[in-house]
Order: sequence, then C-alpha cells, then structure tokens
Amino acid sequence: MVTETKLTPEQHQKLSRIVYKESGVVINKKKYNLLVARLAKRMRITKTSSVADYIDLISSSPNEFNEFIDATTTNHTFFFRENKHCEFMLKTLDNTNHLKIWSAASSSGEEAFSIAVQLLANSFSFNIYASDVSDSMLKKAKRGVYSKERIDKVPSSILHTYFQKGKGQWKDYVRMKPEVQKHVVFEKFNLLSDTPFDTFDIIFCRNVMIYFDSKTRQAVVNSLCKALKPGGYFFVGMSENLHGLDHNLRAVLPSGYQKK
Ligand SMILES: C[S@@+](CC[C@H](N)C(=O)[O-])C[C@H]1O[C@@H](n2cnc3c(N)ncnc32)[C@H](O)[C@@H]1O
Repeated sequence: MVTETKLTPEQHQKLSRIVYKESGVVINKKKYNLLVARLAKRMRITKTSSVADYIDLISSSPNEFNEFIDATTTNHTFFFRENKHCEFMLKTLDNTNHLKIWSAASSSGEEAFSIAVQLLANSFSFNIYASDVSDSMLKKAKRGVYSKERIDKVPSSILHTYFQKGKGQWKDYVRMKPEVQKHVVFEKFNLLSDTPFDTFDIIFCRNVMIYFDSKTRQAVVNSLCKALKPGGYFFVGMSENLHGLDHNLRAVLPSGYQKK
C-alpha cells in the first residue's frame, strides 16, 4: 500500500542526482511534479509504502533502478516526426553510396523506422544503428509493433508497402515488415557514459539534449562528433540547436549540421 508520495528536499535532491548521473536528464524544481508522479507510479507497481523504502529499493535492485531511470525520461515520439531532416537527406545524398546511420536516442524506434522506409522507397543501400538508454523502449522498438495513432503522418503509399496491418485483436496496430526491420539494429547505449565504437555518415540525436544541461550537451556533442565521418550530417531536434557549444560543424538547415 502506498501511503506517502511527498518528498523531503533531501529525497528530491537525491533522486534528481541519481537521474542526472545516470541519464544526464535534469530534474529541476519545475519538474518536481513530474518526478513525484512518476515516482508514485513506480511505488504503486513495486508496492513500496514510502519514498525512503523506494530509495533503498533502487539502491539494491539494478532492475528497479533501470525502471526508475526509464520512468523519469520522456520517450514521446511518432513516425515522420520533424521529417524535414530526412527530406534533406533524400534530396542531398547519392543513393549509390552505402549509408551508415545512427539514431542516437531512438526511443521506441519510430525515428529509425521512418528513416528506413524512406531510404528503402528511394532505393538507398543503408544500415541503421538505433540506440537508447531505456530498456523498455528498446524492447518496444525490437518488437516493431505500433498503435495506429503513431502513424498518422505516414504517407499511405509507404504505409501500404512497409507496414503490416494487424487483424482481430491487433486491428488497431501495425507491424514493421521484416524487410524494414532487417536494416535496423537496436542496442542499449547511454549517451553519457558509453563510447561510440564506429563512425557514421549521419547521426540523428533529436529531442533528447533538450533535457540536458550545457555541460552534458557539450560532452554528448564531442562524443557524437568523433563518431561522425568528415562531411557527415548531424541532426538535433527542431526546437534544439548547438548555440554556445564548441564543435566542428557548420549549419546547413534548421537544426541540421555538417561536419567540416
Ligand atoms: C523524446 S525521446 C526522442 C525520440 C526521437 N529521437 C524523436 O525525436 O522523436 C528522448 C529519448 O532519449 C532517451 N535518453 C534520455 N537520456 C539518454 C541518455 N543519456 N542516453 C541515451 N538515450 C537517452 C530517452 O530514453 C528517450 O527515449
């Protein structure tokens, strides 16, 4: 039974520090209510009766620690979100060269699959490495099954060619066809603590740095720029930019950059 979801200032500070250290996500005073709501949900699920007990639980259970980090990050995404970047790519790049692409905060996979279906439709040869810190999002991404409200922006010809419609109890869902799934590999990668092991022609790191402070943003940009090939493209979310950060990129379109 949950009897308490109020945090002392010390508990708020402790939980915020844990989230910041693990994912880079800043939970400031403004986001207090969000933290409490998500904490209350985890406490309900784990049948933990006090915040103090929950803090003990995440200190002793790596599994619940991961669940807590998952619960405190924002995973919202959908197909063809901010598609200008992809349109730019299709217009600018030559489809006779093989492309290595990284979707670096892929959430449940919609970003990576949106890129994949458009590249397939335009006869590109490519592979996409898609990663996220959240185990639950990666599980969804690997399954490749989506509810219909996520695909509102997908053009009908693409929908028809690359998505399978569900039947019976799955009638409100679609699944990525295997020919799309085979181009995308999902793996866990923490932008804060993991080191890229490969280099890429294009990196999408969208709608995640908005949750980071400038120190973390700089560290992530340094790391991703190392993983970008010279002349490669780097995309951040449409409401994000790299103002105030050091980098060797030039702006080529809103929130889109090219390595010098
Ligand atoms: C709002 S979603 C963005 C999804 C997609 N890129 C888009 O633009 O629609 C942000 C994702 O960043 C992930 N994330 C947060 N901190 C991270 C970190 N330190 N390393 C990797 N992924 C992280 C979250 O788990 C979440 O799935």
